[in-house]
Amino acid sequence: MGSELIQIKVASQAGLPGAPRSSSGAAGGAASFAAWGLVNERITANGACGVGRTPGPTNADPPSETVATAGTLKTFYIETFGCQMNVHDSEKVQGVLMARGMTPVENHHEADLVLYNTCSIREKAAQKVFSRLGVFRKGRSGAPKLIGVLGCVAQQEGERFFQRAPQVSLVCGSASYSKLPELLDQLEAGKQRVTGLSLHTKECFETEMTRRDNPFRAYLTIIEGCDQRCSFCVVPMTRGPERSRPSDKILAETRRLVDQGYAEIQLLGQIVNAWHDPSPARLSFAELLSRLAEVPGIRRVRFTTSHPRYFTSDIVQAIDANPNLCDQIHLPLQSGSTTVLARMLRGYTREEYLDKIHGIRKARRAISLSTDIIVGFCGETGEDFEQTLSLIKEVEYDQVFSFKYSPRPNTLAEGSRDALAEEEKGRRLTELQELQRQIQMRRNQALLGESFEVLVEGYQARLGQAVGRSTTNRVINFPGRPEDVGRYLTVKVTSAGPNSLVGARPGSADLRF
Ligand code: 5AD
Repeated sequence: MGSELIQIKVASQAGLPGAPRSSSGAAGGAASFAAWGLVNERITANGACGVGRTPGPTNADPPSETVATAGTLKTFYIETFGCQMNVHDSEKVQGVLMARGMTPVENHHEADLVLYNTCSIREKAAQKVFSRLGVFRKGRSGAPKLIGVLGCVAQQEGERFFQRAPQVSLVCGSASYSKLPELLDQLEAGKQRVTGLSLHTKECFETEMTRRDNPFRAYLTIIEGCDQRCSFCVVPMTRGPERSRPSDKILAETRRLVDQGYAEIQLLGQIVNAWHDPSPARLSFAELLSRLAEVPGIRRVRFTTSHPRYFTSDIVQAIDANPNLCDQIHLPLQSGSTTVLARMLRGYTREEYLDKIHGIRKARRAISLSTDIIVGFCGETGEDFEQTLSLIKEVEYDQVFSFKYSPRPNTLAEGSRDALAEEEKGRRLTELQELQRQIQMRRNQALLGESFEVLVEGYQARLGQAVGRSTTNRVINFPGRPEDVGRYLTVKVTSAGPNSLVGARPGSADLRF
């Protein structure tokens, strides 16, 4: 081979204003969902339609010292941490703000309103927002007029946030985003502190004002919240109860996306396959997939994240029957030991999980598999960990997102006495990641000479390289042209590394670079 692997990132369209920043919130690798999406990408303005502002203050908090903000919130800046749900929530929040006549700006110094959309899945992710907020301590120059905190850390900390970070004026969890216009009205009317923290909701954040960042692949939420009680996981406490969107709304949004030029959609949900149709149509998740695949103009449908407990064979049948349902499934394992799975309250055994995998492997097309794994959960013995390694060897995933267990507030496992030492967690994580690196290297090498259709998502002029993604979600770099971006092209694999592939257009003279 001899050709050097050069990886490029999808081009961020610097000249285009307002892309919300996104930072990976994970220790030991990108957060599960973030790794599936491309963040910091180009903006397409769509759907920033005008809506009426909601009436003035309704919050019953006692009046407090006011900030001079009335009518002055003209510009905003959003930084997003964590998963794809957060990235998409920020897209919707951005749409709502633009519908108020506000303009996105590239950095926080220029913003009247600075928003952080936070992640609390692991301790390190949760800490990030506090280090960002340090910049805005009282007395420092260039402070924005208002700072708001959204998302999981906002929900988790609630009113306490104001004590920890007095510079913050707005604290709002994802279950209350539909109240954002009202909360902003209150701030503009001079109120100093506002919150949206109720988790008692049956509603999804429905808005037609989404400002999507990726011009090629549109995120589409089908279910919000989570009703599971995995003992390690903070999400049910931060995102509230499970709420599914009706199938007619999902289908209508998909048709609108096609009209706006999208051919690829990615369905999102904390547990996407727990979706159930609240509308009279009563579609199953697999039926929804098939109906989406039939929407004229839809070329690719992805969905994440599936829970093994709800992963039924009709999903694989739907993929078999519809070529535009992508050959890719993300099925978080968490642990290969049945004992640990029981303590995690995952609701399946090692054997049941493997049965699902065997069902997927029987599909007519080769489906790419990825997973999430937590190492060093409370009481995980060396033998339990070996079970995880042996399962990884058996399944041979195309990608594994692995994390050291991080105790989270208000979870069942918090404070458990059989915690493992950090060094041991680190040792296990390294061993697992090395094993997976070898598997990925081998699997990717096996693709040499094969051709794939890729959606070209970026181009880097300096290297003359384009980057595309296959239906199996593999990233392929190849010599390309700026005008390739946004097209579906066939690319032949010419060299392979553990994390990405290098290719060339068939028939092109230069198969190496
Ligand atoms: N510690 C470490 N990893 C966690 N995850 C969820 N909660 C924790 C935690 N407390 C991981 C799981 C999940 C992914 C999104 O993050 O693997 O699937």
